[in-house]
Amino acid sequence: MTDALKDMDEFRIGSYAPEPLIFEQSGEGKAGVYVPDSDVPPVAPTEAIPAALLRRKEDALPFPEVGEFEVVRHFTRLGSRLFGVDANFYPLGSCTMKYNPKINELAAAMPGFAGLHPYQPVEQTQGILELLYHLRVFLAEIAGLAEVTLQPAAGAHGEMTGLMLIDAYHRSRGEDRPDVLAPSTAHGTNPASCAMCGRGLVTISVRDDGLLDLDHLRANVNERTSALMLTNPNTAGLFDPQMKQIADVLHSKGAQLYMDGANMNAMLGIARPGQFGVDVMHYNTHKTFSTPHGGGGPGSGPVAVAEHLRPFLPVPQVVCLEDGTYAWSDERPKTIGKVRSFYGQIGVLVRAYTYIRGLGPDGLRDLSEKAVLAANYLAARLAKHYHLPYKGPFAHEFILVPQFSEQGVTELDVAKRLLDYGFHPPTMSWPIMHCLMIEPTESESLATLDFFAEAMIRIAGEAAETPHLLHQAPHTTPVRRVDVVNADRKPNHRWRPEGESA
Ligand SMILES: Cc1ncc(COP(=O)(O)O)c(C=O)c1O
Repeated sequence: MTDALKDMDEFRIGSYAPEPLIFEQSGEGKAGVYVPDSDVPPVAPTEAIPAALLRRKEDALPFPEVGEFEVVRHFTRLGSRLFGVDANFYPLGSCTMKYNPKINELAAAMPGFAGLHPYQPVEQTQGILELLYHLRVFLAEIAGLAEVTLQPAAGAHGEMTGLMLIDAYHRSRGEDRPDVLAPSTAHGTNPASCAMCGRGLVTISVRDDGLLDLDHLRANVNERTSALMLTNPNTAGLFDPQMKQIADVLHSKGAQLYMDGANMNAMLGIARPGQFGVDVMHYNTHKTFSTPHGGGGPGSGPVAVAEHLRPFLPVPQVVCLEDGTYAWSDERPKTIGKVRSFYGQIGVLVRAYTYIRGLGPDGLRDLSEKAVLAANYLAARLAKHYHLPYKGPFAHEFILVPQFSEQGVTELDVAKRLLDYGFHPPTMSWPIMHCLMIEPTESESLATLDFFAEAMIRIAGEAAETPHLLHQAPHTTPVRRVDVVNADRKPNHRWRPEGESA
């Protein structure tokens, strides 16, 4: 072997060879583009720009110096290591990581949408206004509710907006209702939104079958109750058939039913929340109508309300005038005002509109039926190999608990081992301890579901026979098992030049 080859061997050539940071590839004088020297003379300090604010040569930012080829290769290599829905099955419960039709991206990137400025006059923006108007009408129709605001920027923001609307409603009736109820299995954003609105949280128990304890609810609803926040289908993937009774209990005491509609992909065209007594709900358009947000991408959380809450909706609202043109309207004297700058997350809303129009009413119902079928199919295939704490039937997701404590195998080991089989791990340890929450979504083929089921069954076998394989997993990924506690508590995302401490 030549010396050069020996050197290369040390580099562990292969797709998962260690990838140096772009800063570590930097070398003085390397460049991808050549920019002419500046012909703008340096400025002397003035009263408006004192010396301390002027950048000196020695303050130059430590950008890496690399050639174009190195940059392209670096990011291409990193890109190929990403785990995404375009390449792999991503059953991350509660996040609806389904495939995003590329036509959504094309629509959102059309210059007529992407290049708009929010201050452009309405005469120049009739196209986007028409789209937004129809989207809000579609979303109201799907929810079975009276009207929708598109302003909130995420599900959690929708929750906060919904609670503000409910508060405004109670206040308009001369009532101050300080408490919000939520089940013990609520998504973390529910209690957080409640705190953001300065409301106290009262936790309602969940029965052994995973559904809300109606008796506990009855015992806790009173004149202090502003609303119950309830996710349906709930975080265990169960559709709560008691919705009408729950709504009646709340309404009998003047309280409101807030439905967290983040899981609407299980009931589009099948059930309409407004018809079972819901007063307010938010959508996670970035889950239900594509643009999955795993990793913190942009979101959008439109809020739908019943007739009695319409007067309080945020302004401006997009409206269709009598002459058929579209406009922004501020005419809503009881409005809670604006909850976001400008008009909402336009790019995500364009994607949602495209998705809804692409599927049509029958397509939306079909989507939900497939989401439900996929979850129940996987649950049935895995029931012999893992413990299912709730019996189903399931809506769009389900929970299982790996029970291999004798072998010292935890849910984390199972999740990590799945990576070796090419699957993104499910959500872990929520809403109950030691569980895995699996959401296959509607966009996966039977072949993928079977492949995943086989992998899970094999992992159950490995847990019994070769547990060490699981303890050390993953074995095939560019980064092996990370210190999750420190990664969460002491994240270190910043490169620092040598010698500079964190
Ligand atoms: C049930 C439920 N409620 C609320 C949210 C919050 O949505 P967002 O992350 O857009 O704020 C989520 C997020 O996935 C969710 O699953």
